[in-house]
Amino acid sequence: MAKEKAVRELEDLPGIGETSAEKLRNAGISTLEKVAVLSPHELSEISGINVEAAKKAVAAAKAATHIEYETAASVSKKREELGKITTGSKGLDELIGGGVETNAITEVYGKFASGKTQIGFQLAVNAQRQKNKGGLGGSCLFIDTEGTFRPERVMSMAEGSGIDPAEVLEKIIVVRAQTTDKQILTAERADKLIEENNIKLIVVDSLMALFRSEFIGRGSLGERQQKLNMHVHQLQKLADRYNLAVYVTNQVMDNPGILFGDPTTPVGGNILAHAATTRLYIRKSKEEKRIVRLVDSPSMPDGECIIKITTKGVSD
Ligand code: GTP
Ligand code: MG
Repeated sequence: MAKEKAVRELEDLPGIGETSAEKLRNAGISTLEKVAVLSPHELSEISGINVEAAKKAVAAAKAATHIEYETAASVSKKREELGKITTGSKGLDELIGGGVETNAITEVYGKFASGKTQIGFQLAVNAQRQKNKGGLGGSCLFIDTEGTFRPERVMSMAEGSGIDPAEVLEKIIVVRAQTTDKQILTAERADKLIEENNIKLIVVDSLMALFRSEFIGRGSLGERQQKLNMHVHQLQKLADRYNLAVYVTNQVMDNPGILFGDPTTPVGGNILAHAATTRLYIRKSKEEKRIVRLVDSPSMPDGECIIKITTKGVSD
């Protein structure tokens, strides 16, 4: 596919040639911003191009001049407010820039029994620690789509960290979702729950399992991706609105297109690839060891680390 040319001046707009650009400039419409605020009819009258073409040109001008008004000071302040939840492993925390970040979606994909759910449990415990102890002093909303939430496992992790297990369980709200509709609705209706319970972490384990089993066959892929898109945007909105962290687990498939190296690829396609802020790939090594690779991050270089999953939980 040909790469679209960046729109920088009037002549770059579709349908606007030298002559119509000159007419526009003569009428005082000299910048893309000025075109962006015209109606297609106005643009058509001034430039002489037809209304249909004018519609496209206005849309392109709008797209090229999209502005997000935010001062650098406010961006910086938001960054300072970002919270981080320790994974339990210093190595893994460092790999991802200090822990699982709020205002973002962190995805871990890998084969069965690789440790994705275990990390989810550990984060649900660690989110409850105080801020100076690697937590956010908040509760967790755990959306369990596979029926694999195990309170006794969470309790042993809490004990392993020296935190009262009974108290930890009180602060994890589990929703068992058996359909994508319930999964989506849980996120859609989470506002009140989040506010009332000071939820600082949402776990979706697994994000894709129900989407995969409900939408089978090529014909339904479009619908699946559309629903998935809505769902992940909803999660991102919650992350932004409440400055909370979102941790999702994901399944894998073998990509036959990869001839050399590891063919393991996360499912969910481009929609998820774009939505996940940080992507990690976890795989089994010897005994308790797991290799975690940072595949995608907005600010950290790619890399790998080794973690351990023991009775006490996730550690170096
Ligand atoms: P799927 O959901 O099947 O895709 O896998 P997953 O990646 O979520 O796997 P999960 O996180 O459930 O990891 C399961 C593995 O964690 C087990 O095979 C064990 O190796 C380890 N594990 C789970 N519980 C314990 C425990 O109590 N003690 C120890 N030492 N290891 C445990
Ligand atoms: Mg699991």
